[in-house]
Amino acid sequence: MPFAKRTALMKIAVPRETAEGETRVALTPQIAGQLVADGMEVLVQAGAGEASSNLDDAYKEAGATIVPDAAALYGQADVVLRVGRPSDEEIEMLKEGTVLIGTLGTLAKPELAQKLAKRGVTAISMDAIPRITRAQSMDTLSSQATVGGYKAVLMAAERLPKFFPLLTTAAGTIRPAKGIVMGAGVAGLMAIGTAKRLGAVVEATDVRPVVKEQVQSLGGTFIEVEMTEEEKAKAETAGGYATEMSDDYKRRQAELIAERVKEADFVITTALIPGRPAPKLVTDEMVKSMKPGSVIIDMAAEMGGNVEGTEPNKEVVKHDVLIVGYTNLPATMPGSATQMYAKNLQTLIKHLVSDGKLELDFDDEITKGATITHGGKVVHEATAKALGIEVAPPPQRPTEQSDTSAAPAASEKKDS
Ligand code: NAI
Repeated sequence: MPFAKRTALMKIAVPRETAEGETRVALTPQIAGQLVADGMEVLVQAGAGEASSNLDDAYKEAGATIVPDAAALYGQADVVLRVGRPSDEEIEMLKEGTVLIGTLGTLAKPELAQKLAKRGVTAISMDAIPRITRAQSMDTLSSQATVGGYKAVLMAAERLPKFFPLLTTAAGTIRPAKGIVMGAGVAGLMAIGTAKRLGAVVEATDVRPVVKEQVQSLGGTFIEVEMTEEEKAKAETAGGYATEMSDDYKRRQAELIAERVKEADFVITTALIPGRPAPKLVTDEMVKSMKPGSVIIDMAAEMGGNVEGTEPNKEVVKHDVLIVGYTNLPATMPGSATQMYAKNLQTLIKHLVSDGKLELDFDDEITKGATITHGGKVVHEATAKALGIEVAPPPQRPTEQSDTSAAPAASEKKDS
């Protein structure tokens, strides 16, 4: 039987996000109402949804309780649902034994895991949920990348000094804008589809040859780097992710990109290899070769950027080309971003809760993969590695369910 935490009525708390520029909130009133209907108590900090147009009255109508300030909220929460990382001040407010769920990004900021472990908090990170079929509806990386890919194109279209679509007018014929999308994963495919819908001509590149058909099905043209059979076999992990390619492949890819980039009006870069710095695909020399007024949206800015010259959260002009490096595009469209994030959270909660009580089954791939800290220890392997410490073994499954008052105990069982 899995480790269980029993409460009369589980209290789920939704604080107001404190990170600069964050406009999203963890739950919409609609999902809050569904959790209330499922037998949970939902507490929402006053004004938490304001920036995403989810007002206090709507949460109240849905059956949630509005709590005036963060301290009062954290003081009574069994589960805290967040969008981003908590501040040090908020960590101090968390009670020992609280379950904190949010996009904690502990690979980029592993010291956060140590602080949460010290506080005795069970931290579950949405970005650590394995990208497996069973977890698709909890996959916030995908839902937020969908928003990001869409907004990247809108930003490019807004900043480009010309039309996207082909126009035949009395004032002459306007040629359609040409764009390149680098990295055809979730964000990239959304970008291709959006740019096509706006009428641009779109090319795309990716190291995984398998995405060629997906690019074509959206109306894009695949820029194909010739690959040996060995390279094709190595390009993708069993989990469907890209791997670091050989120097020879990178040289061939760079040659091809250099040729295509000269023709492009806009470039959207989304290339990512999980856990690694973003691959540099567009060099300063390539930027220089682009037409004046062209626009690059570098979605990988947070991980160092795919473009030489990208500055996180800035718009810079290099060689008359605008390079945009916003790291939180979903926050520029908080309505849909929140709606999708809240749905992902609801699915995860359903996965973790049974009969109104929270159950953490560390034999489950999703729960184990997403849990960062538990029982005062860092239990997430990759985060522990980033900290240079030994990963704590997962908690032993008790023979009987423990109640809320029992502190979650780490077991002696070895992580396999
Ligand atoms: P994903 O893993 O679905 O897609 C990444 C794609 O890049 C994969 O198809 C992969 O094969 C490809 N790739 C890897 N190395 C490459 C290379 N050298 N050349 C060409 N393609 C390569 O990831 P997802 O969810 O689409 O996210 C993409 C990026 O966008 C990530 O860096 C993510 O952090 C970022 N992102 C940024 C946001 C923002 O606000 N700026 C919002 C959401 C995501």
